[in-house]
Amino acid sequence: MRQTLLCHIYVLGGLLSFGIRYTSSAHQCTVSREVADCSHLKLTQVPDDLPTNITVLNLTHNQLRRLPPANLTRYSQLAILDGGFNSISKLEPELCQNLPLLEALNLQHNELSQLSDKTFTFCLSLTELHLMSNSIKNIQNNPFKNQKNLIKLDLSHNGLSSTKLGTHVQLENLQELLLSNNKIHALRSEELDFLANSSLKKLELSSNQIKEFSPGCFHAIGKLFGLFLNNAQLGSSLTEKLCWELSNTSIQKLSLSNIQLDTTSNVTFTGLKQTNLTMLDLSYNSLRVIGNDSFTWLPHLEYLFLEYNAIQHLYSHSFYGLFNLRYLNLKRSFTKQSNSLGLLPKIDNFSFQWLRLLENLNMEDNNIPGIKSNMFTGLINLKYLSLSNSFTTLQTLTNETFLSLAHSPLHVLNLTKNKISKIESGTFSCLGHLKILDVGLNEIEQELTGQEWRGLDHIFEIYLSYNKHLKLTSNSFASVPSLQRLMLRRVGLKNVSSSPSPFHPLRNLTILDLSNNNIANINDDMLEGLGKLEILDLQHNNLARLWKHANPGGPVYFLKNLSRLHILNLESNGFDEIPAEAFKDLSELRGISLGLNNLNILPPFVFDKQVSLKSLTLQKNLITSVEENVFGKVFRNLSDLDMRSNPFDCTCESIAWFVNWINKTNTNISELSSHYLCNTPPQYHGFPVMLFDISPCKDSAPFELLFTVNTTILLSFIFIVLLIHFESWRISFYWNVAVHRVLGFKEIDKQPEQFEYAAYVIHAHNDKDWVWEQFSPMEEKDQSIKFCLEERDFEAGVLELEAIVNSIKRSRKIIFVITHYLLKDPLCKRFKVHHAVQQAIEQNLDSIILIFLEEIPDYKLNHALCLRRGMFKSHCILNWPVQKERINAFHHKLQVALGSKNAVH
Ligand SMILES: *[C@@H]1O[C@H](CO)[C@@H](O)[C@H](O)[C@H]1NC(C)=O
Ligand SMILES: *[C@@H]1O[C@H](CO)[C@@H](O)[C@H](O)[C@H]1NC(C)=O
Ligand SMILES: *[C@@H]1O[C@H](CO)[C@@H](O)[C@H](O)[C@H]1NC(C)=O
Ligand SMILES: *[C@@H]1O[C@H](CO)[C@@H](O)[C@H](O)[C@H]1NC(C)=O
Ligand SMILES: *[C@@H]1O[C@H](CO)[C@@H](O)[C@H](O)[C@H]1NC(C)=O
Ligand SMILES: *[C@@H]1O[C@H](CO)[C@@H](O)[C@H](O)[C@H]1NC(C)=O
Ligand SMILES: *[C@@H]1O[C@H](CO)[C@@H](O)[C@H](O)[C@H]1NC(C)=O
Ligand SMILES: *[C@@H]1O[C@H](CO)[C@@H](O)[C@H](O)[C@H]1NC(C)=O
Repeated sequence: MRQTLLCHIYVLGGLLSFGIRYTSSAHQCTVSREVADCSHLKLTQVPDDLPTNITVLNLTHNQLRRLPPANLTRYSQLAILDGGFNSISKLEPELCQNLPLLEALNLQHNELSQLSDKTFTFCLSLTELHLMSNSIKNIQNNPFKNQKNLIKLDLSHNGLSSTKLGTHVQLENLQELLLSNNKIHALRSEELDFLANSSLKKLELSSNQIKEFSPGCFHAIGKLFGLFLNNAQLGSSLTEKLCWELSNTSIQKLSLSNIQLDTTSNVTFTGLKQTNLTMLDLSYNSLRVIGNDSFTWLPHLEYLFLEYNAIQHLYSHSFYGLFNLRYLNLKRSFTKQSNSLGLLPKIDNFSFQWLRLLENLNMEDNNIPGIKSNMFTGLINLKYLSLSNSFTTLQTLTNETFLSLAHSPLHVLNLTKNKISKIESGTFSCLGHLKILDVGLNEIEQELTGQEWRGLDHIFEIYLSYNKHLKLTSNSFASVPSLQRLMLRRVGLKNVSSSPSPFHPLRNLTILDLSNNNIANINDDMLEGLGKLEILDLQHNNLARLWKHANPGGPVYFLKNLSRLHILNLESNGFDEIPAEAFKDLSELRGISLGLNNLNILPPFVFDKQVSLKSLTLQKNLITSVEENVFGKVFRNLSDLDMRSNPFDCTCESIAWFVNWINKTNTNISELSSHYLCNTPPQYHGFPVMLFDISPCKDSAPFELLFTVNTTILLSFIFIVLLIHFESWRISFYWNVAVHRVLGFKEIDKQPEQFEYAAYVIHAHNDKDWVWEQFSPMEEKDQSIKFCLEERDFEAGVLELEAIVNSIKRSRKIIFVITHYLLKDPLCKRFKVHHAVQQAIEQNLDSIILIFLEEIPDYKLNHALCLRRGMFKSHCILNWPVQKERINAFHHKLQVALGSKNAVH
């Protein structure tokens, strides 16, 4: 019933949403603030129902053929109109007339081929005009003459054969002119003089087959600060020519990447002598030879890019004159010769001595044979040196290797990927300013004695990850107490458990990476004292045993006192148990990764101290149930949860709470529908957890109540039945008593003197001798006691039954002398007992005293006399002792019983 109703609602909802989409299909532009994004909508028309106050309209990637001014009139506030990636072939001048505030017009990747003088006449506010990738072959007259505010003009990827964009001076404010990828073969002054009043920061002429620089071409431009001429086949001689043309210009940045320049000499850049060039890019040139004094004309140069060349020999004067250089990129500049000799490149000693201001030197990915004793001498301002993958033979680092850097204030030294196998003691002792040392991805195989790091007094980070075998000692890091980051991932780490801990001296450590080491044994004091540790990586180790209860000595609490820890990674450790106290000190933890373990049941409240936790990952464990007492608290502030690929048990007890939480939470749970699947019960196998119907679980509360009530009733019933079965006599007996009371049979508690006898003695005829023997002496002893003994005290002639009744009435107590004979005595059975009990009920239960002369089972007593021991107070039940010495005690007890007041207590 409920299912079908839901089904109807879904269908209805589906129809409704379909309807909404249909009516809005005119356009699906998204408008936020004053920005309308109509890109990628296959539009053939300009939407006519956007808010009129939009300032940005994005119409890119549609099928527009025109931008009719009338259709845009509505959006007169537009400052940015992006019509890129359409099929627009014509532009009406009225467009800008209707959009007087337009500042940026983008028409890249369209089909414009003609620009007339009128096209942009009214675009007076334009600062950016993008016409890249159209089919503009030539420009006649002056289409841009009114663009006095234009800062950037992009005409790249058209078919232009000339730089000429106008017949007279214009574009006074232009800063960037992009003309790359056209068909320009020559730069001529008359074709650039329309820029006579401009100050170009960037003239981009890359990827044109320029073959000619006519005299004065760059002087035609008002000011030229940056020229980009990449990907042209200039070669040495045209480059030389170019530099001469740039002489006495304001050129500062010159990019000549990939211009087939294979040699530079002391004449190549001579023309730049009369400039203030600060940046020169000569990358990707197959440059083989940098002749001595090549750069001697460039004393202002600060940035030199020489990456991706094939320099065979760096001479001692190759860099002569670069006294102001700050940055030098020599990545992949020196390579093995490709000819059969395979000669390694050479770098002369003192080659860098001229670079006094150099701060950053990148020498990555080269084939340099080794470090010579004076290789880096003179780099007195060097701070960053990357020697990653620089050398072919650098197996052993010694105290001599870096001597040439002794006077460099080096902050960062990158030595990755050099096949280094050993760091000898004192290697870095001359690099006292070093903050970051990266010797990762090598083949280091040694015991770290601590001497390796001697002299690194200001070291902040040592990256040692991905090496072969590192054996630690207690002193491994004793000489670098300033260390804050230590990376030891996948280094075949040995002796982590040495004592005191190798990490003990690192009081300022904030990041420690010990992952991928297969560590199986650590002490609980390994991280002791690392009170500033924030990130701890222990993934891919073998720590499962440490947290087992069965571990000899109990679980090892190796995370204790890490109160500042923010990120903890324990993935892939084989954990199948977590002690309840494992995380108790980690109150600032923000992220914990426990994925790829074998966790099934987590102890309740295990995460309760992690009040700041934002990210929890438990993917690929064996978790079947997600319970409130484990996760309730920690889920509250979580931003990201990852519990993918666990074998969830889709029953109310296991996941109802989880599913309920999922439905309400804002926490990020990625792949919820595809990777959170039920494993059990069988009928739900493979079913998405999020679709598990929890409504039956909610109803289980009343069921539970009903169940409880039912069970209680049933149990009570069973109890009563059993009670009645075994204790019915007691019930009926007390019932009798109660009824008598209620019906007003007042307790006849006469005063002792009102009774004639102290007790009426009921006994079998056979027992009369015993009775006589026992009771008459008592009477003799104590004159106040008188028993009614049938044989003695009954008056002759009186009917026995009547006598009995009278005598019982006149007796204060009734004594039963119980033997087998009594049980068989018919008179006793039928009459005396009944009467006695009747009187007892009327009078008091205390009035009956049972004396057992022999052992009589209760059931026989009940069967014969309808009496049970349980009906009477224990002091009213006496046993005739077998041992003679106890007879006195028996008499004493009897006296006590006789004396007791007849009352129900
Ligand atoms: C411009 O608007 C007219 C009428 O509103 C419409 O017929 C035409 O298709 C529109 N053209 C474009 C390209 O949006
Ligand atoms: C722009 O117009 C929309 C309605 O068309 C209005 O909600 C919004 O407040 C307007 N924005 C400004 C800045 O006037
Ligand atoms: C318009 O949208 C395209 C594609 O989404 C984007 O690349 C472009 O930057 C946007 N244009 C503007 C002006 O935001
Ligand atoms: C350039 O070097 C050559 C020798 O290689 C030398 O003869 C010539 O004088 C140098 N020219 C200048 C301008 O230094
Ligand atoms: C180079 O800079 C100096 C000082 O800044 C300046 O006087 C000189 O004119 C500049 N040279 C050129 C060619 O711009
Ligand atoms: C390098 O160490 C050796 C001993 O191993 C020592 O003789 C030599 O003086 C050291 N060199 C420097 C520069 O400290
Ligand atoms: C060292 O260089 C390698 C390769 O370029 C790079 O991946 C790594 O991040 C660098 N190390 C440091 C500390 O910058
Ligand atoms: C550790 O850090 C503190 C505070 O930043 C600093 O004062 C102390 O000198 C550092 N200890 C070492 C050994 O560098």
